[in-house]
Amino acid sequence: MAYLQPDKPEKVYLPAIRAAKEKGEKLVCLTAYDYPTARIVDEAGVDIILVGDSIGNVIHGYGNTIPVSLDEITSACIAVKRATERAMVIADLPYGTYHVNPDETVRNALRLMKYGGAEAVKLEGGRNRVDLVKRLVDEEIPVCAHIGLTPQSVYKMGGYRVQGRTADQAKRLIEDAQMLEEAGAFAIVLELVPREVAQLITEKVVISTIGIGAGAECDIQVLVLHDLVGMTFGRLPRFVRQYADIRQVMTEAIQAWSSDVKSGEYPNDNESYGLTADAKSELEAILNK
Ligand code: KIV
Repeated sequence: MAYLQPDKPEKVYLPAIRAAKEKGEKLVCLTAYDYPTARIVDEAGVDIILVGDSIGNVIHGYGNTIPVSLDEITSACIAVKRATERAMVIADLPYGTYHVNPDETVRNALRLMKYGGAEAVKLEGGRNRVDLVKRLVDEEIPVCAHIGLTPQSVYKMGGYRVQGRTADQAKRLIEDAQMLEEAGAFAIVLELVPREVAQLITEKVVISTIGIGAGAECDIQVLVLHDLVGMTFGRLPRFVRQYADIRQVMTEAIQAWSSDVKSGEYPNDNESYGLTADAKSELEAILNK
């Protein structure tokens, strides 16, 4: 039986992620929430695109990820998937969509995959999510876990702080990572954990670690795209290196356009449409009748 090949051969699927770790090759992951940015990110060669619930901070201005809805992530995921040819697309399960019961979690994850086009889902939590991860994986849903700083726990944690700084906390994080691996997660985001702890986890698990504020030893690095290109407001976390100032570029472009409009420089004749000489004289004749 011949199977259709729906994607280009180099499309990133789980085996490519596993193979990269085996070969010691680093991969990169960025967030995207819409068609144009996803297209730029994909065409730039980024391996994984995360439709993160950071959409709440970056796009919707909620201030944290708690209010983000399944509809918001699904809609963003549809746009991202349309724009993406090569990168693997992972969608976040927003707060409240995997907290009630396993059946509802499966339904929500399936929605992200069937309607959103996600190729995997991500959820936050350690040992408390082990059964859920097993259940999702049993239903053919690839799962990326997320430990360390878990932004959906912001009210419980009382802020955003580095996690796993004491030996006991670090040991607990390592155990969590091993339990999530055992449960079937294909990768684990390590957010804001000391680099030594991230390195230990990366060495102890066969699955890939995806670091953000977790040092250089993780298998994959992830950043919020808007932080990387300077499209956020306020102070950036210490782990972000800003590679461009798109906010400044946009501000200058908008101000230049505004001033051209006000001075009559824009639009010029090439930037508008004119009548043909015949139509012009015909119109004049009609108007002068
Ligand atoms: O939502 C997000 O962007 C994330 C990353 C910070 C890993 O979860």
